[in-house]
Amino acid sequence: MYAQVYTMPIFVGKGREKVMFEKVKGFKLSIIIPTALYAVLIYATRIISNSKNTYFFNGSPIAMTSLTGVFSGLSSLCLIYMVLKYKKLGFIVSLISVLSQFPVLIIGIFFRHIYTGMPGLFNNVLALVMIIVIYLYQAKASREHEKLQNLFKQTATALANSIDAKDTYTHGHSARVAEYSKKLAQMNRKSDEECEEIYYAALLHDVGKIGISESIITKKGKLTTEEYEEIKKHPIYGSQILESISEFPYLRIGANGHHERYDGKGYPDGIKGEEIPELARIISVADAYDAMTSKRSYRDPIPQEVVREEIVKGTGTQFDPEYAKLMIQLIDIDKDYKMRECEESEFSFKG
Ligand SMILES: [Fe+2]
Repeated sequence: MYAQVYTMPIFVGKGREKVMFEKVKGFKLSIIIPTALYAVLIYATRIISNSKNTYFFNGSPIAMTSLTGVFSGLSSLCLIYMVLKYKKLGFIVSLISVLSQFPVLIIGIFFRHIYTGMPGLFNNVLALVMIIVIYLYQAKASREHEKLQNLFKQTATALANSIDAKDTYTHGHSARVAEYSKKLAQMNRKSDEECEEIYYAALLHDVGKIGISESIITKKGKLTTEEYEEIKKHPIYGSQILESISEFPYLRIGANGHHERYDGKGYPDGIKGEEIPELARIISVADAYDAMTSKRSYRDPIPQEVVREEIVKGTGTQFDPEYAKLMIQLIDIDKDYKMRECEESEFSFKG
């Protein structure tokens, strides 16, 4: 049962819609620039290839047509840029841009016998081959990259499940904290890349609990001072476990700092305010929200208005004011108190 990780139903707020809209808008706008530049360069190439003018360089006359290769080369660079930057969309736009020139060139050469178009036809055939080859290589590299990414995601998910499996009552905790943390990051306009980093750092924030005795983690009564001191070591254990994943340093930072408090009274380092890494400040709010809203061995989920009050109380003391405010916004949007821990059937399986 615990080998599964569930993902929260997407809780769409106004902030998210705005971010998505801007992303689509920016995406469309940015591809217009290289496409327009390509069109201008192709037009300039045609004008120059038919020009009978000369220009002077170091006193020697040089035919304008000698610049054809320069403009043609620049237009090829535009195509390469589009395929590399926009991948499939860039490939389609490049393909259409190149193919759209063939009718004019073919009619000119084969029906009107304008043979000055021959270099243009040759260049276009080369450009066509070039963008197809680049796209195929890029698609292969993307598939390899995706495989590696999936391997990382599945490994991180398996690790998160193994942490939650230690305690029936924290089942799904890591996945929910990851979802809340990502949501907070999105609301604060973090980039997609940053949101992904925050998600995985949050997913593994409690990995250090692997090093804590199961009898302490699952204890139903009050912890003794010694037991509490032991459980407080889990951020350090987590940091040590994740330290070896040097490619993703944010994982270690999230595990190490998620129990720090904004007023400096947290652990393990007792750092305060903005000394605490931002992703740890985000996870801290999300972690507290899930701890209060999910069922525990010793209590049922806390009512929403009490949870809201606790977050308000902790603003600026336990929590970063900015992220506490965003969490309060999320709570206020969630009028039916549905964002908290859901019944298993309400989660969708995340492969
Ligand atoms: Fe923790």
